[in-house]
Amino acid sequence: MLALLAGCGGQREERTAPDVPPLRGTAAGRFVGVAVRADVLGDAGYATAVGRLFDAVTPENELKWALVHPKPNRYAFAAADRIVDFARARGMRVRGHTLVWHDQTPPWLGDPRLTRARLIAVLRRHIFTVMRHFRGRISEWDVVNEAVADDGGPRRTFWLERIGPSYIALAFRFAHEADPSARLVYNDYGAEGPGLKSDAVYALVSALKRQGVPIDAVGFQTHVSTAPVEGFASNLRRFTRLGLDVELTEVDVRVPDGAEAAARQALAYRRIVGACLAVARCRGIVFWGLDDADSWVPHAYPGYGRAALLDADLRVKPAYTAVRQVLMGG
Ligand code: G3I
Repeated sequence: MLALLAGCGGQREERTAPDVPPLRGTAAGRFVGVAVRADVLGDAGYATAVGRLFDAVTPENELKWALVHPKPNRYAFAAADRIVDFARARGMRVRGHTLVWHDQTPPWLGDPRLTRARLIAVLRRHIFTVMRHFRGRISEWDVVNEAVADDGGPRRTFWLERIGPSYIALAFRFAHEADPSARLVYNDYGAEGPGLKSDAVYALVSALKRQGVPIDAVGFQTHVSTAPVEGFASNLRRFTRLGLDVELTEVDVRVPDGAEAAARQALAYRRIVGACLAVARCRGIVFWGLDDADSWVPHAYPGYGRAALLDADLRVKPAYTAVRQVLMGG
């Protein structure tokens, strides 16, 4: 227990996986996954818990442009390969995240000499190279991530400015060409409940469907506080009426440090999982980070250090037990 581990964003004590019943296999045909970091897989407790408790993984950062395609002619697959090999050795499904996003892009992509036509060619080659590297090993991809702004307009990103709104449909078409068997997902946050943002995502994916763009599902990230997401299940259902599947792709529930919030957090997790289970075409749920030591939340929300299902020592919280109960139909 006291051995120190390097390579996990500093040094910390070795941890032990919790000896609890798993979430994998509880959700009747739906996947139950977790976002994983390659640099933490060397922590035996972390790796054992991921492999034992879940049946799907999403590499948390390793497939983003800056990491997987750091130079125009250099791809760096080792970190993502490590996660994918780990998952496949345990019969787990892998979600690819993400082919087109405005964040974590490499500096070379901003080269002003890249004309629109060149940039489209670069995008196509990126999608082909990455998807073909993982063909047969990654079954679904977040093709486009967060293209809608919080006010419901198109998000003003590098991709929109340099290519125009057609970059979204282009990315899906390239992805389908690269791997026709992959499930293709549009992924966004803040669209869980009805409202401006959700309506805008709905309008976007409706338009894609109308244009015959190959899209299979919408991913609802579900980074939330403990406040209930009103109308979650019925909102998911309206997307399924477009002929799309839905998934909860990045679930976490932040709570403020210090406050006694375990029960509130468990209830919030219970409601979120319940919303997916209430919708026949909700194919699965991925939690965004195994435990509080490996969660992005405190970096983005200082003072909110406990958003995950397991604590920093890999002990399960009431939230984990609640999720399992609801997955088991309780
Ligand atoms: O790789 C560098 C490392 O070399 C450097 O030493 C270290 C110093 O801070 O930074 C490392 O990069 C960090 C990277 O995660 C990998 O750990 C970035 O600073 C950090 O900003 C980055 O954060 C990620 C964030 O996306 C970035 O955009 C989070 O881990 C990740 O959880 C988060 O995930 C996103 C989803 O992809 C999309 N939806 C929202 C979600 C939460 O923001």
